[in-house]
Formats: sequence, C-alpha cells, structure tokens
Amino acid sequence: MMTKTVLRGRILSFEREPQSPEDVEAFSYIEDGALVIADGLIEAVGTFDEINTSECNVVDHRPNLLMAGFVDTHLHFPQVQVIASWGAQLLDWLNNYTFPEETRFVDKAHADGIAKVFFDQLIAHGTTSAVAYCSVHTESAEAYFEEAARRDMRMIGGKVMMDRNAPDGLRDTPQSGYDDSKAMLEKWHGRGRALYAITPRFAITSTQEQLEMAGALAGEFPECHIQTHLSENHDEIALTKELFPEARDYIDVYQQVGLLTDKSLLGHSIHLEPREIDAMVDTGAHPVFCPTSNLFLGSGLFDYEGLRARGLVSGVATDIGGGTSYSMLTTLAEGYKVLALRGQKLHPFRAFDWITRGNAETLGLADKIGTLEPGTEADVVVLDARATEAMAIRMDRVETLAEELFLLQVMGDDRAIAETYVAGKAMKQAV
Ligand code: GUN
Ligand code: ZN
Repeated sequence: MMTKTVLRGRILSFEREPQSPEDVEAFSYIEDGALVIADGLIEAVGTFDEINTSECNVVDHRPNLLMAGFVDTHLHFPQVQVIASWGAQLLDWLNNYTFPEETRFVDKAHADGIAKVFFDQLIAHGTTSAVAYCSVHTESAEAYFEEAARRDMRMIGGKVMMDRNAPDGLRDTPQSGYDDSKAMLEKWHGRGRALYAITPRFAITSTQEQLEMAGALAGEFPECHIQTHLSENHDEIALTKELFPEARDYIDVYQQVGLLTDKSLLGHSIHLEPREIDAMVDTGAHPVFCPTSNLFLGSGLFDYEGLRARGLVSGVATDIGGGTSYSMLTTLAEGYKVLALRGQKLHPFRAFDWITRGNAETLGLADKIGTLEPGTEADVVVLDARATEAMAIRMDRVETLAEELFLLQVMGDDRAIAETYVAGKAMKQAV
C-alpha cells in the first residue's frame, strides 16, 4: 500500500474572493491542521485531531502556514538573464537588451540550462504554476516543457510568434509561426500537467497576416490559452496605431482576428480606452497586472479597482525579466504600492487569494490548483513569517492572521518560503 503524506501546520485556503477585510467567510483557516496527500492529490483536510494519521508519513510544519502554491500568470522564460537591465523604457529595453538575449535560445543546450535554473527559481519562490512566454524558437518551448514535465509541474507556455520589427534570428513567418505553434501545441497540450498557450508577442512584432493565423489557431483549439501584451507604454500604443491604422484602438488589433476570448491573458493592460475595457468585458478576456515590471520600466499604474468594478477578473504576475522579482510576495508588495499611488488598497486577504485561487480562476483552473480543496492537485507552499530577523521583530507585535499575512506581503520573499510541494513532493530542499 502506498504511504500517504500528511502535512501538519496552520492551514489557509480561499474559497472565493474576499469582499472586504471583514469577509472571513471567504476562506477556511485551521489553527492545527492536517493536509492528507495521496497520489499527488489532496485527499482530505481537517484538524490534526480529526484526521487518522496512522500509517502516514507526517511532516510537521508548525508553526508555519500552509497555503496553495502560488500561481504566476505572466513571465518570460528566456529573460532570466535580462532582469536588472539599466535605463530604458519598454521599446528600447526590448531592442537593446531583451531581443538580443532571446536570440540565444535557438541553441537547445542553452535553453536546457536556463530551463533548469528558471524552474529552480520558481520553486525557491513558492511558485508552483506559471504561464510563460518562450522565445520564438521551438527549442526554447521544448526545453521549457521538458523541464516542467521532469518536475511534474502544472505549467502553461508557448513559443512566441513574431515576424517583424525584431532582429535576424528572432523572427518566424506567418506560416512557420502557425506550423511550429501547432506542432508544439499538439505535442504538449494536456500531456501530463502541461498546457499550451498560443503566444503572439504583441501587435508591434506581428504582421496582420500572422495575427490572423494566430487567431485561426485559437479558433481551432479553443481550449488553449492565448497570451499577449496590451497597452503597457505610451510609445508602444502610438506605434501600434501607426502600424494598424484601420484598428479602432489597440485591443481591436487582437479582437478583429479572434484573439480576444475568455482564455486571453492580456499582459499589463494599463492605458486603456473605454471601448477597450468594454471589449474585455464583452469577451471575458483577462487583464494581467505586473507591478514590479510596470514600476521598473516606468510604464504606468494599473487601475485595479476600475477594472474590477467592471467585473473583469484580472491576474497578477511577475513579468520576469521586465519584472524584477520571481517572488509573488514581492509582487504583492509592489502591487500594494502601485494601488496606493492610485488611492486604492490591496488588503492581504484579497492579495493572498489573488496569488492562489484568484490567479487559478483567471486561468480557468480553480478546480485543479489554487486551493487546498480535496480532489485538487497537491501544490502547497509553506510560509514562515519569521524568516528574517527583521520579520521576526515585526512578528512579535502581530496579533491577527491579517497582520501576519500583510507582513508576509510587504516583507516576504524567497526566504519566507520554508518549503514548496509540487504534486505532493517536497521540492525546495532539493533545489
Ligand atoms: N511587450 C512585448 N514583449 C514584451 C516583453 O518581453 N516584456 C514586456 N514587459 N513587455 C513586452
Ligand atoms: Zn511580458
């Protein structure tokens, strides 16, 4: 008989988005809890007393906090060595740093090496699922999915489609972009825990013909996610309008070719016109907030409350390597500050729901990841709010769960991740 694993600790899992700081019905919290894991899935959750732990391998994580593993809804696998590139806004940053770096991923051996360290970083930071852009080369997507499979992680990704306004060695064609994407999709989508995302980079780097073919592919495979970038930077928007004079606005470039659906993840979505927001509402497309990137590149301040008021379900993400941290905790800290500059608030209940269940819902995967509900996949993060001396000093004055979570949100990073479980297996100590 297979031995089950039981994780003992304080257990926190969100059931829906908290509506206010008082909305404690939105989550379940067990002070001395037991999480039973069998065959990569969560089998049961309860108080340690009520769970029968005989013949189980019990791992005692007290006094740490167990939550669902973090979900990162937007980042770039080939930009691991682009983080902290000095002095540019979006378009210069792409041309001077990012595109030259991505050309290196034609080399499978290079992509393999970076895939290993990329996934090590995700695990170290408590991220168990992510949605990544690979480079234009199929080699990079292969390396990405192979490494994800080796670790049995629920990862979404796709080969970037880009056929203009990029250097030699970093362009496909409408036909090869379609063919290569389709081949990768057919090979990887639904294999193990992998899912494929159709990935036209953004309007500037695709011709109309390529976008049409990306839309056709999305039509053939409506179960796949679609990811691209939208309205991150004023110069980007101006150039997009020049390149697509027929389009009503930026998002229309995507809408006209069938790239706007409830599977669409629109990175940044900062400087939006009213019709563009209507288009998102009508199609169910998802804005994705990338605070560390938006501050680093000086892109602008995401309108969290404005989009939420329209009923849009946004994701939150690191955007490595425009983003500056792999940590979803640091991402929440910077997100809090972006909202503060807009006179808005990101309460820790809302914040921790967002990087777990909320992001899973954005991806349509909340029945599989993002909570600690029995039957879902056993991706779990173990959080230590006393991980650093500065945090421990502050913790001495903490009295409530909300205060502890806010401390993790504001001061936490990879040091606060005591362990990361993927499909029931402890992965962090192995990194
Ligand atoms: N827009 C198009 N490509 C990119 C990218 O790689 N990073 C960011 N931040 N924005 C983009
Ligand atoms: Zn991006």
